[in-house]
Amino acid sequence: MRVLVIGAAGQLGTEVCKVFADRELSRADLTDADLALDVTDRGAVQRLIAEHVRPNLVINTAAAHNVPKCEQDPAHAFAVNATAARDVAAACAACGARLIHISTDYVFGCGGTRPYTETDPPAPLSVYGASKLAGEHLIAAACDDYAIVRTSGLYGAAPCRAKDGMNFVRLMLHLAATRPEVSVVTDETATPTYTVALAHQLRVIAERAEPGLYHATCNGSCTWHEFARAVFDYTGTDVTLVEATSADFPSPVRRPDYSVLQNKHLQDQGLDIMPDWQDALHAYLDTLAG
Ligand SMILES: NC(=O)c1ccc[n+]([C@@H]2O[C@H](COP(=O)([O-])OP(=O)(O)OC[C@H]3O[C@@H](n4cnc5c(N)ncnc54)[C@H](OP(=O)(O)O)[C@@H]3O)[C@@H](O)[C@H]2O)c1
Repeated sequence: MRVLVIGAAGQLGTEVCKVFADRELSRADLTDADLALDVTDRGAVQRLIAEHVRPNLVINTAAAHNVPKCEQDPAHAFAVNATAARDVAAACAACGARLIHISTDYVFGCGGTRPYTETDPPAPLSVYGASKLAGEHLIAAACDDYAIVRTSGLYGAAPCRAKDGMNFVRLMLHLAATRPEVSVVTDETATPTYTVALAHQLRVIAERAEPGLYHATCNGSCTWHEFARAVFDYTGTDVTLVEATSADFPSPVRRPDYSVLQNKHLQDQGLDIMPDWQDALHAYLDTLAG
């Protein structure tokens, strides 16, 4: 099986490449990968996928997902997250490749009170969320053999390139090392998700899942304040953790107050292998300590 990972140098792409290392693997990215590819160049996408690599499976993790930057430059956000996603899907259709495409919990809006399933109607609040949702629709129109995988709050060993290398866990540990108290919001609930766990879930999806839309996050949920508490407790970090609300951090970007996803489509097929968020966090913190 030939596998092409796009966004291979990114936070998630790095782990996906490890999980598919036993396959004939090609790594593409804007920079820092074996194959240079700008996904907004339709001709280059078509040539690389349908003529050069001709993979059986494409996993597209490339995105414009710095949320404030997307707000400032909607054209770029839609070029990468929507139009390019369509072009990758069309190239996959042209050479018979299965496509796995990564999407986001930010397709949902405010006011949720129970975990969203794949059949709940999206209502994005931001350019980022809207552009990723547009990408989902365009992929579904461009090819048949796709799995669109929405995930949430990624963290892992490889730096998140769109966010200056930071993830939430690293940010908390950095703040705790440099100041006596750290303020974290209690009014945003989600499910932080470890990239290693998601990469293994993507392999299961690639090999065993029917085509369609999937939610794939760690199981359970927490507020960001609860997540920070768990980071500090497990690492024995001595810092005062202060309760804040999103109003304490004014931002031009609207974010969902509740974006918990249920991995229902995976569960229905007996394919949900995602760990609970606490177990995944501990596994990650163990790697940082080791
Ligand atoms: N991080 C999160 O918390 C989170 C949450 C939910 C969903 N997601 C989704 O998960 C996926 C992976 O995120 P991540 O955290 O791994 O992101 P990341 O570390 O920023 O990696 C994204 C990769 O995509 C590449 N890329 C950007 N524009 C490109 C272009 N025009 N052509 C080719 N490659 C391009 C980037 O290259 P450069 O660095 O060289 O620009 C980077 O290597 C994305 O689809 C994102 O929307 C992320």
